[in-house]
Amino acid sequence: MSKKVLVTGGAGYIGSHACKALARAGYVPVTFDNISTGWEEAVKFGPLVKGDLLDKPAIEAALAEHAPIAVMHFAALSQVGESMQVPGKYWRENVLGAVNLVEAAVEAGCKNFVFSSTCATYGEHDNVLLDENTPQHPINAYGGSKLAIEQILADFSASHGLNHVIFRYFNVAGADPEGEVGEFHQPETHLIPLMLDAIEGKRPALTIFGTDYPTPDGTCIRDYVHVMDLVDAHVLGLKWLEEGKGNRVFNLGTGKGFSVREVVEHSNSVTNKPVPITEGPRRAGDCTKLVSGSERAEKELGWTPTRSTLETMIADAWRWHQNGHYEK
Ligand code: UFG
Repeated sequence: MSKKVLVTGGAGYIGSHACKALARAGYVPVTFDNISTGWEEAVKFGPLVKGDLLDKPAIEAALAEHAPIAVMHFAALSQVGESMQVPGKYWRENVLGAVNLVEAAVEAGCKNFVFSSTCATYGEHDNVLLDENTPQHPINAYGGSKLAIEQILADFSASHGLNHVIFRYFNVAGADPEGEVGEFHQPETHLIPLMLDAIEGKRPALTIFGTDYPTPDGTCIRDYVHVMDLVDAHVLGLKWLEEGKGNRVFNLGTGKGFSVREVVEHSNSVTNKPVPITEGPRRAGDCTKLVSGSERAEKELGWTPTRSTLETMIADAWRWHQNGHYEK
């Protein structure tokens, strides 16, 4: 019988791609999602349990019904800007939801846990290439809530023997090249889909948030990683836990940073269409630069990203943007 994995947030952008990767690798992804920011239509590779992480009995029921061998926890509020306006919402939903999930999982005897953390836990570090040992000092509530969950996992590991792999993502972009799933947020806040909207005239222009950062062109620098590569790492992380290799943190980045202006320039060459831009003030909570190597994931997990060039990410996002979307 195929092994089941409980995928929280399986109806969302990264979670839906992870479900596809899990199904391909022979697992049954069981999505647990409240469909608040995800899409029922994105749940294509296994069953959907509609439920909320703030409702612990609902999590317990899903664990009892499906008896998964592991949990992959993607579900979260994930907008840096919003987290600075309504921090309470981020702390409540992300952290309390995770406490319920982790506690229910260990109580059900499901002790393998893969967690989506973020480079936003690192905060500002002058011009360095981040690695897993870089001190974590988040400067926004989103990053703070994710760092708290990392600590919760460590505590449950000590108290209940929870085995966990933590992935700290850099900026996830692109879409399934086969077009079965893709990125669709409502409202959208991420750079690449907003840029593609602006190209198509769905919004008047892309606003560049801040042109006075201490970077060569004054705009923020990020490390973009393809969603298909990212979810491949999750399957490897799951196998790592199944093999009993223990708790480990992995950064998932490419070691190459691109400024907002550079992303726009690459887009021009991929789509052959100009991006209308305007320049605006900084967005609260944004770090100047977040770039990481992925040596540990490559060496220890055998992760080999194959699609994480900016051209491929924009091309895959552009194809999805033109052909695919979900409707509530
Ligand atoms: N940006 C603009 N204009 C926009 C949108 C974004 O200039 O309209 C800039 C941002 O200021 C930032 C860069 O483009 O410098 C990327 O912004 P995103 O909103 O696409 O992503 P973030 O860098 O804010 O990513 C953060 C975390 C990730 C997390 C993600 C989830 O670093 O770990 O939020 O929303 F996954």
